[in-house]
Amino acid sequence: METSIGIKNENLAKVAEEMVKVLADEFVLYTKTRKAHWNVEGQDFYNKHLFF
Ligand SMILES: [Fe+2]
Repeated sequence: METSIGIKNENLAKVAEEMVKVLADEFVLYTKTRKAHWNVEGQDFYNKHLFF
């Protein structure tokens, strides 16, 4: 099956390589935000908990 997402075949590998980096960064951000969500303490707990 041939892909048809508007990217030339000769560019697919490079685009995929860059998208893997974005996905990795996104997952790190998600994980750190989740950790912050779970570890909120103090008087601002409710607002910070909602924020995260
Ligand atoms: Fe929560």
